[in-house]
Amino acid sequence: MTREPSHTLFPNSLDASRTRAKPFGNFHVLIKLAEGAMGVVWVAAPWDRLTPESLVVVKTLRADVAAGPEAEAFRDMFLAEARLAMRLEHRHIVRTFEAGFVSGSGYFAMEYLRGQTLHRLRSKLRKHGSLPLDAEVRILADTVAGLHYAHTLWDADGAPLGVVHRDVAAQNIFVPYAGETKLLDFGVARASATAEAHGGPIALAGRVRYMAPEQARRERSDPRGDIFAAGLLLAEAITGDRFWKDGSDDAILEALRENRIPDPFHADHDPALVKIVRAAIQADPDARPQTIHALRTDLESWLNRRPTRGDLAPLRGTMATFFAEERGKAERTLATLLEELAGTAPSAPAPSEHRILAAKPREAPVYPASVPPATSVRSTGEQAGTGDAAPALELEGPAPSDDSAKHATPAVAPPEPLKQKSTFPVPLAAVALLVLAALGWFLAHR
Ligand SMILES: Nc1ncnc2c1ncn2[C@@H]1O[C@H](COP(=O)(O)OP(=O)(O)O)[C@@H](O)[C@H]1O
Ligand SMILES: [Mg+2]
Repeated sequence: MTREPSHTLFPNSLDASRTRAKPFGNFHVLIKLAEGAMGVVWVAAPWDRLTPESLVVVKTLRADVAAGPEAEAFRDMFLAEARLAMRLEHRHIVRTFEAGFVSGSGYFAMEYLRGQTLHRLRSKLRKHGSLPLDAEVRILADTVAGLHYAHTLWDADGAPLGVVHRDVAAQNIFVPYAGETKLLDFGVARASATAEAHGGPIALAGRVRYMAPEQARRERSDPRGDIFAAGLLLAEAITGDRFWKDGSDDAILEALRENRIPDPFHADHDPALVKIVRAAIQADPDARPQTIHALRTDLESWLNRRPTRGDLAPLRGTMATFFAEERGKAERTLATLLEELAGTAPSAPAPSEHRILAAKPREAPVYPASVPPATSVRSTGEQAGTGDAAPALELEGPAPSDDSAKHATPAVAPPEPLKQKSTFPVPLAAVALLVLAALGWFLAHR
């Protein structure tokens, strides 16, 4: 199933007419930000911190989907998204810090980003010539860095997770007014090592416009599909136009299945960049760069040769001007809602059937600018499911931030089912058994 979420119609603007403030677990849900095929994205305030700085985003499964005929499968997909999102800790991926259930429905909570999706930036700024190529390449190179991290995630036992995003699209790339570019929405991502996320009754895939031919043919889904999607986004940055123009989904799928990938470039386009992008959008995955790291390296060296070096400061200035009104309105709406809430909200959340399945500190670790040494993570023993937001993790050393080839991932308790490794060491158990056996033999033969 492919999807073009309805939220693209009313993108990241806050509309007070759709306001709803209601308690939800440890949060007050304030306003709906977006609604897609599977989830609803809300701005929410922690019940004990009703300030604009403390706002978070809560993603829930859509009520109609949760009650529909394929509820079970969607619930599993949503949990797989929550579980994966909790594992991701990277400067270019939105940060998720809590996952759980409220009255039986799953949710996860993330940092609230103030800014615009790349999709929105393109539609607002391009026609004014205010989205320079270097800035777009910077945004996409950072996205690629986030993807590289996800592709090379290892679980706590050192096994590769085999994560593929599968919905790399301008709608899922977020450029904050201040701060780093963030990749969103691992909703249809696949972690091949995670059995629960491995297919299932609903074959959800990313949107058709950025789909790779092998995905369109449903042959396979591996990281090279994300490379193709990143390549299409880069091609759109170069040409300033949509890759498939006004083609219908059916027409695009047909072209993809027949390996017909247009070449939209012409002589005015930067030849070095075109070369990089052409390689990424080869129909045959074997002909593309085999890891997204290779694409990233090429993009970084291209950016390094540019006089701007891909500095985003000018774009931030443009965004401040172009979105001043929208941003002001959003902040005022939220401030009003928070004020109203402060006057009426109870001093503690009403008892509800609320289970926190996994939690991390709400604040992001400080991501170092350079590549850090390997990060080791150990569980503090505070396990999920206690109903307590106390951190279940303690990070040792800097958080993984960049492109070391392999990343240990935070050993977050997966939302469901909870599978905890025994902390009783196996050799010790063996010795204890031997001693008991010897004692038994001794007593029997005394
Ligand atoms: N953490 C966030 N902060 C701000 N806006 C967000 C955040 N997460 C999502 N959004 C907005 O909500 C939209 C939908 O979120 P997404 O996770 O992509 O859900 P869907 O599965 O419906 O596509 C995004 O395109 C973005 O505009
Ligand atoms: Mg999305």
